[in-house]
Amino acid sequence: MSVLPIARMGAEVLRQRAAEVADVPDPALQVLVTDMIETMVEAGGVGLAAPQVYQSRRIVIFFVPAARNDGIEVPLTVMINPVITPLDDAANEALEACLSVPGLTGIVPRFTNIRYHYLDLAGALIEREAHGFHARVVQHEYDHLDGVLYPLRMEDMSTLAFSDVLQAEASAKGHDLELDEEG
Ligand code: NI
Repeated sequence: MSVLPIARMGAEVLRQRAAEVADVPDPALQVLVTDMIETMVEAGGVGLAAPQVYQSRRIVIFFVPAARNDGIEVPLTVMINPVITPLDDAANEALEACLSVPGLTGIVPRFTNIRYHYLDLAGALIEREAHGFHARVVQHEYDHLDGVLYPLRMEDMSTLAFSDVLQAEASAKGHDLELDEEG
């Protein structure tokens, strides 16, 4: 097991469409995923996509803490070749951050309600629905597989900010601003 280096914005691997994973299950995938989990935990993220560790393959890991998802926890999930379908046109805006764009945050619109499916490490097809923050994390991580970083999804670039500046200004006003890395 090892913590892997995380690619930062500008790296070519973050702009490419990642390749489908052809053979599942594959013992080599287990090694990569274990390293991705260790890397995500070390970095304090809630998600990580394989291109962020220089592996241009359609693999994503994420989890959703209950506190950020109306009390509903989504345990650590490994998705291979995920596919997302919006359930309707509903969208919402929230601050997003990315381990590949360190220090920054910005407001990103995302679909509120989605359905998604993927293969798990055993090769089983899993289908789920997601709403709110859960849906946001899945969309953010999925975008990494298509070479898209969240600033490309922003509609108002004036909201792009350094997280520590926003936090300092919020605490000066007596607010607490939650700014976890999304992955
Ligand atoms: Ni990210």
